[in-house]
Amino acid sequence: MFHANDNYLKLRGSYLFSTVARKVREFKEAEPDKSVISLGIGDVTQPLAPVIIDALHDAVDEMAHADTFRGYAPDLGYEFLRHAMAEEDYRARGCDIQDDEVFISDGAKSDSGNIQEIFSDRDVIAVCDPVYPVYVDSNVMAGRTGTFLEDSNTWSDVVYMPCTEENGFAPELPERTPDIIYLCFPNNPLGTVLTKSQLQTWVDYANRVGAVIIFDAAYEAYIQDDPNAADEDRIPHTIYECEGARTCAIEIRSFSKNAGFTGVRLGATIVPKDLKDQNGTPMHDLWARRHGTKYNGAPYIIQKAGLAVYSPEGRKQLGEQVGYYMENAKMIRTSLQKAGYTAFGGVNAPYIWLKTPQGMTSWDFFDHLLEKVQVVGTPGSGFGPHGEGYFRLTAFGTHEDTKEALERIRTL
Ligand code: MLT
Repeated sequence: MFHANDNYLKLRGSYLFSTVARKVREFKEAEPDKSVISLGIGDVTQPLAPVIIDALHDAVDEMAHADTFRGYAPDLGYEFLRHAMAEEDYRARGCDIQDDEVFISDGAKSDSGNIQEIFSDRDVIAVCDPVYPVYVDSNVMAGRTGTFLEDSNTWSDVVYMPCTEENGFAPELPERTPDIIYLCFPNNPLGTVLTKSQLQTWVDYANRVGAVIIFDAAYEAYIQDDPNAADEDRIPHTIYECEGARTCAIEIRSFSKNAGFTGVRLGATIVPKDLKDQNGTPMHDLWARRHGTKYNGAPYIIQKAGLAVYSPEGRKQLGEQVGYYMENAKMIRTSLQKAGYTAFGGVNAPYIWLKTPQGMTSWDFFDHLLEKVQVVGTPGSGFGPHGEGYFRLTAFGTHEDTKEALERIRTL
């Protein structure tokens, strides 16, 4: 008789966003006449920009002709997209990233879940608390997290770095030295950011202790650059703006939030060749080996659409799309504050992190909003113990829905 993977059996309940979706589905079945507005999962609502649609159409047409048809994509990504990303996202910002250090994939979620495979199962991970659940769950699946401690709602072998109002939602260097540090900035779920000097502290620390930082930059398009800010106070778009990051950092990029590819699927991971383990093994080679074995490349059609993101027209249209969502973010933050809520984030990120009303847990507030005004958000405790007492709203709705949801919340 076969046996299930013990590590999978340790996972807690279902994936956070699946639980939220199930609760909403059940509510809708019980109350079919009520209109539910979702500001829960960070899924985009604006259609793909015209420049993306044109690129998709053109690429589909190419597939219809023998001389332009493509089969398997190169497993590490087409040169045209690797080059565009290295050039535009990195070299244009003064960061030394070569085309062949960019690995194209079907999205940041897959990469952030899979990247742990190239590390030893003895390595200790550190995560912010609260945190995007994929980082922890994928390490549970790999058997790297120890046992679950019911009392504290934590894993015994994970280093948690609380991000709280008291520390300005910036994680502090941990007491126990980890091997792998997950950082996501602009942050999901908090919607907060680190300055370049704060991130430099992490890069220096990682280099000093021999740890690797897995930096999730999925939300970098939402950073509002301040041309007057001093260099150390700027908000970095990539960890490679920090000195020394090539020897300690892997970066994950997404096309979901900057270009609306949540249903199209495209992402990338940057693994610099200078990042080597204690024996001098380049992690770049291991990630390339993994891609080659387990992945047959993101589709040509999708990579061509990804390339359109970097065209002048693409930049213009997508800048407008990001601006659309940021208007929602501002509306959410200010309306909540006016209604007496304490709210954070939403200035350089599409997430707003609010305190639940006194006496209500995150899930209490979730149920309250769903039942009373049919607005869906994400309970903070689903992101980790320090998320208890908080709630996340996303700015990815339509203006109309966002406005209506806020009006409904105001009436509570
Ligand atoms: C979120 O809501 O946190 C994100 O949409 C999840 C994701 O990007 O996978």
